[in-house]
Amino acid sequence: MNLSAAAQAAILERESELAQRYARSRALLDRARRVIPGGFHLSGRPLVDDHTTPLYFEGGKGALVRDADGHEYVDFLMAFGAYLLGYARPEVNAAASEQAGRGSLLSLNHSFHVQLVEALLPRLPGAEMGAFFKTGSEATTAALRIARAYTGRRLVVRAGYHGWHDWCLPLESYVPRGLDAQVLEFQANDPGTLQRVLADHGKDVAAVILAPEMVLPFEPAVFHELVRLTHLHGALFVMDEVKTGLRIEPGSACERIGLVPDVITVSKALANGWPLAFTAGKRHVMQAAAGMHYSATYHGDTAAMAACLATLDVVAAEGTRGHVERLGQRLIDGLNELVRELDVPAQAYGEPLSAMPFFRFTYPEPAQGALMTRLFYREVLARGVLLHPRHLWFICGAHTSQHIEETLATCREALLASLQLVRA
Ligand SMILES: Cc1ncc(COP(=O)(O)O)c(C=O)c1O
Repeated sequence: MNLSAAAQAAILERESELAQRYARSRALLDRARRVIPGGFHLSGRPLVDDHTTPLYFEGGKGALVRDADGHEYVDFLMAFGAYLLGYARPEVNAAASEQAGRGSLLSLNHSFHVQLVEALLPRLPGAEMGAFFKTGSEATTAALRIARAYTGRRLVVRAGYHGWHDWCLPLESYVPRGLDAQVLEFQANDPGTLQRVLADHGKDVAAVILAPEMVLPFEPAVFHELVRLTHLHGALFVMDEVKTGLRIEPGSACERIGLVPDVITVSKALANGWPLAFTAGKRHVMQAAAGMHYSATYHGDTAAMAACLATLDVVAAEGTRGHVERLGQRLIDGLNELVRELDVPAQAYGEPLSAMPFFRFTYPEPAQGALMTRLFYREVLARGVLLHPRHLWFICGAHTSQHIEETLATCREALLASLQLVRA
C-alpha cells in the first residue's frame, strides 16, 4: 500500500504518543523477557505490538478491566471466554472461596464431584456420563482417548482449535514423529473433504472432532451431514464445545442444531474464571473410560466446582445466554451499519453466533487490511475498549446496552481517526 510521506509521519507520531500511554506495561515486558521464554505466554501476545497497545492488566470487575498503566477498558475478550458473567462475580467467587475455606482439594473423592456431573449432564444433549478436567485441552484429549478405547481404532480427524497438546499440532517439528499420520484434517464447511478422508482411512478412524465455530455460516445441514458421514464409517462424532457449550442458546451448539453427539467437551462458560472442563457423552461410549488413566492432581479441586454450580444458578436466574446473544447481535449490526456508512470494506459477524462476535477488514489488498487492522485496534484500545484483532470476542452478562452503544461510538471515532491517518 502506498502511503504518502505525510501519512507515514502521522502514523509514526501517533505510535510514539501511544508508547507513552503504556510505559508501565512495556517496563514489565522488559523484565519478563529476562525470565519468561518469549516474554509472555502465547495468549498474552501483544494485541497489536509491544508498545502501542496494553500488555499487562491488574484487575477486572464486571465488564471492565484496568491495565497496568491505570487505564480502564470495556473488555470484550473476557479472558478468551472464561467469563460468561463478567469479572469477579460476587456470588461465584463467594461460593469458590467458601469451598476453599473448607479444604477444596481433598485426598480422594468429594460429594461435589457427583453433584457437578449430575448438574451438567441434563444440560448437554445425549450426555449420560461425564468426567471433569481443568482445561479444554485436557477435555478434548480425553474425549479422543475414550473414542479410541471404545472403537479400538487409532486415527482421528479434526477441524478446529482443540488445545495445545501434541496431537493438536501434528506437523510441528517439536512433537513426536508420526502424529501427522494419526491426526488427519478436514475443512469444516465442506463435508466433501471429510468424505474423502473417511473414504481413504474410515476403517481406522476412531473419532471426528469438530469445533462448531469452524462452520461459518452456522448451517445445521452441514453439521448433520458431517455426523452422517462419521457414523457411516463407524467412527464417533465429538463436538468440541469448549467455547460454545453452555454459552449459546438454548445451551449448546448441538442443542441448537438438534444434534446428539457421541461425546461433547465444554469448559469456558462453566465456572466464570475458575478452571474447569468437562467431557461427557453417551453411556455406552463413556463406559470405555472406566479405569482409564486420565487423572491429574488438581482434577478433584472443588473450589472451581462450587464456582460452576453458582455460575449455573446465576445464568439460569438472569437468562444470560439470551442477553449475550442479543447484545452481540446489536454490536454486529451496529458495526456493519458503521462500515456501510463510512464505505469501509469490513464485516462484523457472529463466530459462529452473535454471543461470539468478530470484525475484520476485507480490503482486497492484504497489506492495506493489515495496516487498517493495526491502526483501528490501537485507536479502539486508546479510547478504552478492549477488542482483539485476531481472536473472536465474547459478550458477558455484565455488558449492558450502554456498553454496546458506547463501544459503537468508540469504533466510529477509531475508524475515522485511522482513515485520517492513512489519508494524511
Ligand atoms: C474449541 C476449543 N477447544 C479446545 C480449546 C483448548 O482449551 P484450553 O485453552 O482451556 O486448553 C479451546 C481453547 O480456546 C477451544 O476454543
